[in-house]
Amino acid sequence: MAVKSSKVNRGRFMLSCFIFIFFLCMLASINEVRFNGILKFRRCSVSNESFPANEPDNLRILISVLTLPDQYLRRHFLRMVYGTQTLTEGARVDVKFVFCNLTKEDQKTMVALEIMRYNDIIILNCSENMNKGKTSTFFRSLPEIFSNEMDGPYPPYHYVMKADDDTYVRVNSLVRSLRPLAREDLYYGFVIPCGSMDPFKHYMSGMGFVVSWDIVEWIHGSDIPRKHVEGPEDKVFGDWMRWARRGNNRYNAKWSMYNYPDPPSVCSHELWNDTVAVHLLKNQDKWIRTLTYFNHTHSLKPSKMYHLS
Ligand SMILES: *[C@@H]1O[C@H](CO)[C@@H](O)[C@H](O)[C@H]1NC(C)=O
Ligand SMILES: *[C@@H]1O[C@H](CO)[C@@H](O)[C@H](O)[C@H]1NC(C)=O
Ligand SMILES: *[C@@H]1O[C@H](CO)[C@@H](O)[C@H](O)[C@H]1NC(C)=O
Ligand SMILES: *[C@@H]1O[C@H](CO)[C@@H](O)[C@H](O)[C@H]1NC(C)=O
Ligand SMILES: *[C@@H]1O[C@H](CO)[C@@H](O)[C@H](O)[C@H]1NC(C)=O
Repeated sequence: MAVKSSKVNRGRFMLSCFIFIFFLCMLASINEVRFNGILKFRRCSVSNESFPANEPDNLRILISVLTLPDQYLRRHFLRMVYGTQTLTEGARVDVKFVFCNLTKEDQKTMVALEIMRYNDIIILNCSENMNKGKTSTFFRSLPEIFSNEMDGPYPPYHYVMKADDDTYVRVNSLVRSLRPLAREDLYYGFVIPCGSMDPFKHYMSGMGFVVSWDIVEWIHGSDIPRKHVEGPEDKVFGDWMRWARRGNNRYNAKWSMYNYPDPPSVCSHELWNDTVAVHLLKNQDKWIRTLTYFNHTHSLKPSKMYHLS
């Protein structure tokens, strides 16, 4: 008798433990509460992305695509291009679209809809300009934009990439190439001039350059970027780095970054396997050829609902 009853008790105890743990997991996933200590229960989480930012070893990367408010279709397309890449590299990569003040009434509704749906837009306090300091305003604003995420990790991102909206970024390749590199004082990209392989020669092309978070904070606090804003944004950025002797950990990502092969130039390269970014995708045909080359849509799952050929 005694044995049996203790068995029953143990059974009940186990059951209530299980229910309790299950309940905790439910709570955590519903509220997206981020308990460092509960990471042990990762089994409970639906996907690997549930607690991405708390993994000490996880790289956090912000890809910021500078674009214009009216480029709705471009953003729609880029959301698909980025959103259909499955991260295999244990990192958190956020993609945000960046532009200056809205100027038209209809934008207020259209952009608000996008934000409500995707929450991937940053509107800076500036008026649209190509070469009069938008990039500078962007980097200077970043620490404040992400400063109220008090419960989040520090730094909010290890690396910030500034990318053009005609650049195809292969996110897994980017993560793989950044992972072994310094997390401080890093200035990474495609060296200009195109013919040079020396990362200290001039500056990194605006197609997509990466800096570590300490450089973002330095830009926020320094007078140099505030005073020198006029000129091609990538060249101006390089001037700050040179004048302030920053970005001493330089990495030349040539030829894993390059311009689309057509038209051929010293800055272009055939599409090849070892690619982080392809730039100057100025029309749909170039995008399609690039996505096709990299088998971008190969992971499409078969279904009775559609057939593509
Ligand atoms: C989660 O990550 C582990 C290893 O990090 C991997 O084995 C597993 O397949 C991943 N699960 C999902 C759902 O992606
Ligand atoms: C935005 O910029 C303008 C001029 O550049 C300045 O007067 C204003 O105070 C700024 N507003 C905010 C909210 O920072
Ligand atoms: C941008 O909009 C904000 C808020 O309406 C305004 O305070 C600021 O002066 C504008 N900045 C510029 C440069 O037009
Ligand atoms: C490209 O790289 C992938 C992954 O490393 C490999 O599976 C594939 O066979 C490579 N393709 C070519 C054409 O080298
Ligand atoms: C694309 O897929 C083909 C066929 O599966 C393969 O031979 C090729 O290496 C892949 N290309 C890349 C860039 O991975």
